[in-house]
Amino acid sequence: MSGVETLFNNLWLQYTAINPQAEAIHQLLTERGETVVNDHIAIRTFNTQKLGIDSIAQVFVDLGYVKKDAYDFSSKKLNAFHYEHPENPNHPKVFISELQVEAFSEEVQEIIKKLDDQVDVTAPFESDFIYSGRPWELTFDDYIRLLQESEYAAWTAAFGYRANHFTVSINHLTTFFDIESLNDFILNNDFAMNESGGLIKGTPEQLLEQSSTMAPLVNLAFSDANHLVPSCFYEFAKRYPMDSGRLYQGFIAASADKIFESTDAK
Ligand code: NI
Repeated sequence: MSGVETLFNNLWLQYTAINPQAEAIHQLLTERGETVVNDHIAIRTFNTQKLGIDSIAQVFVDLGYVKKDAYDFSSKKLNAFHYEHPENPNHPKVFISELQVEAFSEEVQEIIKKLDDQVDVTAPFESDFIYSGRPWELTFDDYIRLLQESEYAAWTAAFGYRANHFTVSINHLTTFFDIESLNDFILNNDFAMNESGGLIKGTPEQLLEQSSTMAPLVNLAFSDANHLVPSCFYEFAKRYPMDSGRLYQGFIAASADKIFESTDAK
């Protein structure tokens, strides 16, 4: 396995360990004869000096990834970039977002500072940090305080460093013509899907259609007690060709804005 393949394999093992739903869907597709190709993963972080996008991206940059387009999610107070591997376009894209910490209340800023203070300044540059989970102690009380202002902040504090989702590339499937038929397959197998902004986010004209499951609840250990909280989800993406004939490789901010809600508590 190449360095990139090993990294994504470790991310997948960590992701499916708390999200058996993704493993089950992957298995159902494999049983149909499909070979599942991953379009992208997404990672969440805080925009502190230590934990901002550039720090978190370094492990990917070291493996040949380059920073591409920027995205701004003003209503959720997030910034994001996506990264591609120019030498091997078959490597999954990486979408990294960060919470604009300074845009939140003093109380939220203090909780995030408390988390950030527990991370060693060099830790984000270690090769296994990105799949190391939560590198700080978090009480359930602080989780709830974060949740009151930002679902994203609460999720990031609770789950730390891991793939928030993997994404099935519909373009690489051979038994589904479109995203509608894949969605039907997922729903018929009794998985709940994110309907915020409609089941399908984006249009062929925007060159990207996406849908996702809703993150199932997992029994997560906080420093004081265990609680059921929304975990990770599985995403499905179909890309369309640009005028050049190449498939569009970017993301649609309006669609991603709704995809973020796949980890909202119902
Ligand atoms: Ni995504």
